[in-house]
Amino acid sequence: GLPERVTIYEVGPRDGLQNEAAIVPVEVKAELVARLAAAGLTTIEATSFVHPKWVPQLADAEELLATMDRAPGVRYPVLVPNERGLSRALALGVTDIAIFGSATETFARRNLNRTVAESMEMFAPVVARARDSGVAVRAYLSMCFGDPWEGPVPVGQVVAAGVRLLDLGCHRLSLGDTIGVGTPGHVTALLAAFAAAGVGPERLAVHFHDTYGQALVNTLAALRGGVTEVDASAGGIGGCPYARSATGNLATEDLVWMLSGLGVETGVDLPSLAATSAWLAGRLGRPSPSRVVQALSAA
Ligand code: HMG
Ligand code: MG
Repeated sequence: GLPERVTIYEVGPRDGLQNEAAIVPVEVKAELVARLAAAGLTTIEATSFVHPKWVPQLADAEELLATMDRAPGVRYPVLVPNERGLSRALALGVTDIAIFGSATETFARRNLNRTVAESMEMFAPVVARARDSGVAVRAYLSMCFGDPWEGPVPVGQVVAAGVRLLDLGCHRLSLGDTIGVGTPGHVTALLAAFAAAGVGPERLAVHFHDTYGQALVNTLAALRGGVTEVDASAGGIGGCPYARSATGNLATEDLVWMLSGLGVETGVDLPSLAATSAWLAGRLGRPSPSRVVQALSAA
């Protein structure tokens, strides 16, 4: 069966923009966040409190949070890798953060400058202090389906790293297919392995990049497996600057089109969202890769 309702965790302003070479003005980012909320998205990942040299596009995190409008009932999580990032986020009154670990050693080194074990040590005090401050913590796990340097990643290795992140005190774990190589059978097998380790689908989310065109069908497999929170990026923009061959995320419009056809509620107004992505494409200077945005814009 399928869930009656799916929560879309919108990552466009963060995962979508983090890979853009030309710096997007902070006013455009604030308008994007506001338009996404107006289109009915209730969780909008706004930016990252990472080292500004590592992700220059998001070096304006303070300015964005200080100037953007917040809509009632909408959550605006931010990425936080370490205690320095947490202090910056708390100073801006953030109520939701996400830490981001890796299932593989190579990507942990490239993305966090740490081994997997060292990154867990970095995250532990972040989660503890965030929770003491009443901040909810989500965890991402990257390279759950394959790694550009290490190849296929064993399911047991993914589950072990994911359980460690949850055990730190995170309320949910988002399974990242950072380079988009996964296929539906693999999704089903990974969910089964988490269930066998005591982690049910209500504690999981899925985060698919669409590099190989599998993001939507993988999402359907995850929904059939009981997952009800899906990460997506308006217009399908995005990618990780530290992961070779990572392209855009699952497009939020493609997801909403499929879910509305299946009768699954999202609360998102598709024409308004697609118009937002068409506007953003104009600001970024190239068309949205989303098929649904293209189809609706041509209509
Ligand atoms: P490091 O160089 O090891 O940092 O980087 P450090 O702890 O050694 O500190 C070095 C200096 O940086 C210090 O300054 C710190 O204060 C400063 P100094 O004392 O030398 O003057 N510093 C900071 N400044 C501002 N904000 C901070 C911060 N931290 C340290 N937060 C670090 C380690 C984790 C910081 C670095 O590797 C980093 O920023 N990595 C982030 C990379 C990133 O953002 N990647 C993209 C997001 S992940 C993703 O896209 C995947 C996902 O979408 C899921 C999927 O698709 O799989 C989530
Ligand atoms: Mg991602």
